[in-house]
Amino acid sequence: MIKNKTYQNLPALDKVSRIRTLRLEKLIKQEIANNNGWMTFSRFMDLALYAPGLGYYVSGFTKFGEKGDFITASSCTSLFGATLARQISEIMSLTSPQIIELGAGDGSLAVDIIMELEKLDSLPAAYFILDVSPYMKTKQQDIISEKVPHLLSLFSWLDDVPEQISGVVFANELFDALPVNLIKVEDKQILERGVAVGGHSFHWSDKKAEGELLKVATNLDLHPPYLTEIGLVGRALMEKLVSNFDTAVLLLIDYGFRRAEYYHPQRSQGTLLCHYKHYVHDDPFFSPGLQDITAHVDFTSLAEIAKTFDLEILGYCSQAQFLINCGITDLISENMDNDRSTGNLPSHLLNKLLSPGEMGELVKVMAVGNAMEVKLSGFNERDRGGSL
Ligand SMILES: C[S@@+](CC[C@H](N)C(=O)[O-])C[C@H]1O[C@@H](n2cnc3c(N)ncnc32)[C@H](O)[C@@H]1O
Repeated sequence: MIKNKTYQNLPALDKVSRIRTLRLEKLIKQEIANNNGWMTFSRFMDLALYAPGLGYYVSGFTKFGEKGDFITASSCTSLFGATLARQISEIMSLTSPQIIELGAGDGSLAVDIIMELEKLDSLPAAYFILDVSPYMKTKQQDIISEKVPHLLSLFSWLDDVPEQISGVVFANELFDALPVNLIKVEDKQILERGVAVGGHSFHWSDKKAEGELLKVATNLDLHPPYLTEIGLVGRALMEKLVSNFDTAVLLLIDYGFRRAEYYHPQRSQGTLLCHYKHYVHDDPFFSPGLQDITAHVDFTSLAEIAKTFDLEILGYCSQAQFLINCGITDLISENMDNDRSTGNLPSHLLNKLLSPGEMGELVKVMAVGNAMEVKLSGFNERDRGGSL
């Protein structure tokens, strides 16, 4: 739920962080002033996360893992990447031996995947990474050079989605980090919730929704009062990706639901959440540039886009089911044998990855691509693709 908050429970900002967030606030306020006092939330989120030099994902401090703001699957355990590598290897054998990773974060997932592919004797001919953040790109290059220097020559970095896509394309927790528009349904009117400035602070300001946003929102047939997000930026990225497909499979791993669950009458306050030093709260105006802002993914809308390009939904299931289908339990027991003497296997983090109350059920995996003669092993059991 979005409401004003006091921040007494959140850790205090140090001087450097304070200066950085004030600079970004100033930049956002200037753009709002230049735009007749109003900005879409999508633009606000874009600047808060990606403004050059100041946005959350482009400035240099730790984001993932226990020392950062939130945990991603790959920061839990290398077994996530190792398990995903098995599915990637199978897809490469059915398409072509090429990988494109979108939004690779600090690069640790790429390292875990390439190490497992090497073990499986299934290295790709090329591993491309596309990430909008120059800071993240440097982190990725550093960790790959440090951990797998002998495989560095397989990697290259893209500036944009390639014009022809073959092999495996995948993204883990990218789409939930893309800017979203907010809508508010009130007395049969559909409003776009945007951002304005009052005194020294940001506040919500609603206007009649228009254009593509209004069209999408009208089709959702939401009953007032209802506040939610629509991922127009995510839809545009999906369209760009699948329109360039040659023979390929796109694997999307993200927090989200099918449309009927996302826009369920009971989810009337949306899914927007902010993460700051492992505190989870609902105020995106808190210290722009210092916290992550996310919204869940409407997998049905992405599946529909894939279908308009004659691609098939090759599978859709929970992260836990996908990892189990790909054999994570075998990898866990191998790892337990290896780590029995030191007790290093992080069981609480494995629990985070697999348990239904955590990422296990909240995160879904969807595969789209050209029709395949065989079922992808990640979706062998409990494929819910038909429900999208
Ligand atoms: C939450 S992080 C992903 C974490 C990572 N995949 C992992 O498993 O740890 C989101 C990443 O997506 C990148 N990103 C955001 N928008 C993007 C876009 N349009 N194209 C490619 N990368 C993008 C960010 O810079 C960041 O590295």
